[in-house]
Amino acid sequence: MTFQEAKARHAKLVEEIRKHDYHYYVLAKPLISDHEYDKLYRELIELEKKFPELITPDSPTQRVGGAPLPEFKPHQHAVPMLSLDNTYSEAEVNEFINRVRRMLPGEKLEWVVEPKIDGVAVTLRYENGRLAVGATRGDGFTGDDITANLKTIRSVPLVLHGDLDAVPTVLEVRGEVYMTRQGFERLNAERKAAGEELFANPRNAAAGSLKLLDPREVANRPLDIVLYGLGQVAGERPKSKVPSTQLELLDWLKSLGFKTPERAWFCKSEAELFDAIAELDKVRRNFPYETDGAVIKLNSFDQQRRLGATAKAPRWAIAYKYAAEQAQTKLKGITVQVGRTGTLTPVAELEPVFLAGSTISRATLHNEDYIREKDIRIGDTVIIEKAGEVIPAVVGVVLEKRTGNETVFKFPKTCPECGSKVVKEQTADATEGAAWRCPNPDCPAQIRGRIEHWCSRGAMDIEGAGEVLVAQLVKTGLVRDVADLYNLKLEQVAALERMGEKSARNFLDSVEASKQRDMWRVLYGLGILHVGAGVAKTLARHFATLDDVLNASAEELTRVEDVGSVIANSIVHWRNQERNKKLIEKLRQAGINFKSSLYSARPAVGPFAGKTFVLTGTLSSMTREEATAKIESLGGKVASSVSKKTDFVVAGADPGSKLDKARQLGVKVINESEFLKMCQT
Ligand code: IVH
Repeated sequence: MTFQEAKARHAKLVEEIRKHDYHYYVLAKPLISDHEYDKLYRELIELEKKFPELITPDSPTQRVGGAPLPEFKPHQHAVPMLSLDNTYSEAEVNEFINRVRRMLPGEKLEWVVEPKIDGVAVTLRYENGRLAVGATRGDGFTGDDITANLKTIRSVPLVLHGDLDAVPTVLEVRGEVYMTRQGFERLNAERKAAGEELFANPRNAAAGSLKLLDPREVANRPLDIVLYGLGQVAGERPKSKVPSTQLELLDWLKSLGFKTPERAWFCKSEAELFDAIAELDKVRRNFPYETDGAVIKLNSFDQQRRLGATAKAPRWAIAYKYAAEQAQTKLKGITVQVGRTGTLTPVAELEPVFLAGSTISRATLHNEDYIREKDIRIGDTVIIEKAGEVIPAVVGVVLEKRTGNETVFKFPKTCPECGSKVVKEQTADATEGAAWRCPNPDCPAQIRGRIEHWCSRGAMDIEGAGEVLVAQLVKTGLVRDVADLYNLKLEQVAALERMGEKSARNFLDSVEASKQRDMWRVLYGLGILHVGAGVAKTLARHFATLDDVLNASAEELTRVEDVGSVIANSIVHWRNQERNKKLIEKLRQAGINFKSSLYSARPAVGPFAGKTFVLTGTLSSMTREEATAKIESLGGKVASSVSKKTDFVVAGADPGSKLDKARQLGVKVINESEFLKMCQT
């Protein structure tokens, strides 16, 4: 391929991928299958490998790039990022409307009501239509430059859509980065499984994710963005069609390729405005993001300008906050749970109360600092809250109901499980307050946690290993680490309380079967901090054996896509510990499978090893995907374009220009039946 040809193909691919990203991530209406998309994407990567000079910062391949940052640079906002005044009642909203009316006497007032998205406010600055800077709000005047992190969000256009001559040379758009409820649940489940601290809610998870310094880690967080406002707009061009109302703005943002709020209501009267607020409250739970209110905005930008802003908030908009679903109940006591990694979590034991669809008798108190800051005492009447599907939390105390008989909770200085002196631990990202940790790896609670995790469905999938059995195995001393499971005798298990011979046998059969599980399950089952199932699978694709993973240097580990330094260091730290080295040897002795079936050996083996195929035209006996799979299973590679390095071009019916190219370059062309014959040899 000549450079000119490559350049043309590159431009075409970039345009195609942009289009598909938009349809997939912004409109949620994909035009092609994931497989077809992957092919385009891979072709682009290959092309850029061959012609690195074609790589531009806004190529789709550059979304997740660069090394981790030492820190974020400050970014000065050209136009301050204000916040909104809050209201909590109709009366307060009426006051706001009357205030606006007094300031714009006799004028017609029209409103837009939008959901108030519970995320993290950000600004995206486009210069000449290209994303130049993305930043957080900070104090409203200076935020953090988090461009690299925001680029990983696939619904952020790197280049604005439409005619770039029709957009101002500087265009700042503002909105909210959020984590979908679904994404939040998944992330927390993964973190739980990997022994990491949980995020309290989707907003904290989004904020914590944007604070990560390694964009590759951010790319793994399920973040998305909605845009609803403008910052600086400068350098309008003759063709610029800058909107003059909020409603027009939302349409314009859409046409530039942005995702805008799920719904917006245009209101010509106060009555319509209150209807909109009520309707939003009915539908907002169906939105993919959490919302905590309605934002009421004056529609006309001209009126907005004339009203201006106070130091803190615009005079033309206000937030109306919906009440969170709360309940009051008595705090009977506080217990402290010890997790698999030793983290101590205080749990509120509550008088059962019905809240948002279920009966609640326990709620999290997060950590010691939280209890102290809120002055939560045993015997208090407390307010509990459930936001979305999130774990219920104690959010405050009803002080009027305090009798004086309440007792202040003293956080244990020793582990409630093993009596070790607890240590304070610097918390990971977003959760405020540091957690206490039991430092004793032999703590029965930690041992139980590790064994439950090893046996869990997502890991080694050992049946019958419920909490009760695991607790007994640990208490009786039969099992001290996961490798001990493989030395258990039938009599030993059958002799445990509430265990018959039959269930003991089933359990041991399942233990035996687990020896053959794939390596990624073993790796995940070890419970290394930050190594969730997804990371384990990624590693198992790159390393042939568990030993290869554990012997790799941090540097080698970070070379794997999606593995950042946090993960790599965690693995190195784990494998360097004497007890873990012993554990690995015990597992080897026990006959656990250390080989990865996900690992695709490179260089390839098989009859097609080292051979590159290009497919063109339609095959009658199989689809293109099937042919590709066939070639790959025999050790060959399939390329999307013909080059001198191509070994065979398989030409089906109606072959395209690839056939001409093959002839031109003298590459061997075979037809379908020749190809099938080759596959059989
Ligand atoms: S308009 C000049 N619209 O709420 C400020 N803000 O509590 C204009 N927010 O800082 C903000 N959804 O981060 C606006 N539809 C929406 C919003 C929204 C969420 C956030 C925004 C703002 C905060 C104020």
